[in-house]
Amino acid sequence: MKEVLESGNYVMGPMLKRFEKEFAAYHGTKYAIGVGNGTDALWLSFMALGIGPGDECITHTNTFFATAEAIWVAGATAVFVDSDPKTNCIDPAKIEAAITPKTKAIVPVHLYGQCAPMRAIRQIADENGLLVVEDNAQAMDAAGDDFKIGQLSDAVCTSFIIQKNLGTYGDGGAVYTNHQYVNDRIRKLRNHGSGKRDVHSFGFNSRLDDLHAGILSAKLKHVPAWSERRMQIAQKYYQGLKDCAFLDLPYARPGYRHVFHLFEVETKNPANREPLLNYLNEQGIDAKTHYSIPIHLQEGFPWGKPARLSGPLTNAEKNAASCISVPMFPELTEEEIQYTIQTICNWPGHS
Ligand SMILES: Cc1ncc(COP(=O)(O)O)c(C=O)c1O
Repeated sequence: MKEVLESGNYVMGPMLKRFEKEFAAYHGTKYAIGVGNGTDALWLSFMALGIGPGDECITHTNTFFATAEAIWVAGATAVFVDSDPKTNCIDPAKIEAAITPKTKAIVPVHLYGQCAPMRAIRQIADENGLLVVEDNAQAMDAAGDDFKIGQLSDAVCTSFIIQKNLGTYGDGGAVYTNHQYVNDRIRKLRNHGSGKRDVHSFGFNSRLDDLHAGILSAKLKHVPAWSERRMQIAQKYYQGLKDCAFLDLPYARPGYRHVFHLFEVETKNPANREPLLNYLNEQGIDAKTHYSIPIHLQEGFPWGKPARLSGPLTNAEKNAASCISVPMFPELTEEEIQYTIQTICNWPGHS
């Protein structure tokens, strides 16, 4: 931060360039572009890929609202398919039935810190001539069994809002990709359609500030250790909560590197969710829900925006009705972890 402040270069300066280089190298992709936030990363990618009005993007409904919001910002139609009942990521088996001649892209979300099954998604995309944009706001440093994030898609979008596995002290986001044309278009789109002083085409202002780039550059080196700590905490939760008959614990796909952005448990009986959540909050535990209202059940949906539900969304609705995220961040102390475990195990209300 000091280096940036003393440099006098605060926007599109050398620190942004440095961080973009480090960030691309970290993921093994050719390019990374810093933008204003994770939502912008998504719609800038859609626009760069030529996705717009009349095009359909297939995603799922038990994700953060921004996944669908960005599809609408780009002017496209959000098509929702059901999620996998175990992982809560998009269910590839449901994607094919949702494809129409208007389908342009699949937008999988690496939910809670675990990758969606990208091999299956890529295969469907290849068979149907579709683009793939990964929403990786939640799984920085995760990987599949035989694939890396970014390897099987056209663009990966991420968020640096503070609570993410790599977060800054405010808003920030990035796109990373192996495709030069995506890189070139986003670089222009984020900067008023300009690659050269005084020369413009249609664009926006969505740049990652150099101060944030400096913070992220400093923090990037710690991500592997923080991921290890998250995985270690997850193992403690698995061990401590294994006999809680009223809970389902998160399912980690064999061979996948799940980095536990969240440790999301589900009450077997959805009626238990609110009482358990309230009890944990009363006991001083910052448990939350991700996300208790799926996008298609938000009031007023779809607000005049183009949207389609493909088949029943039963698993997504169950996930929304029963999810609880218990505290998960690398700085948790042993005492805090054990307190959460004991408090859950001693819940007097379970049925
Ligand atoms: C899955 C998902 N997509 C997109 C976003 C949007 O990122 P931002 O808040 O930086 O716009 C977030 C997080 O906030 C997210 O969790």
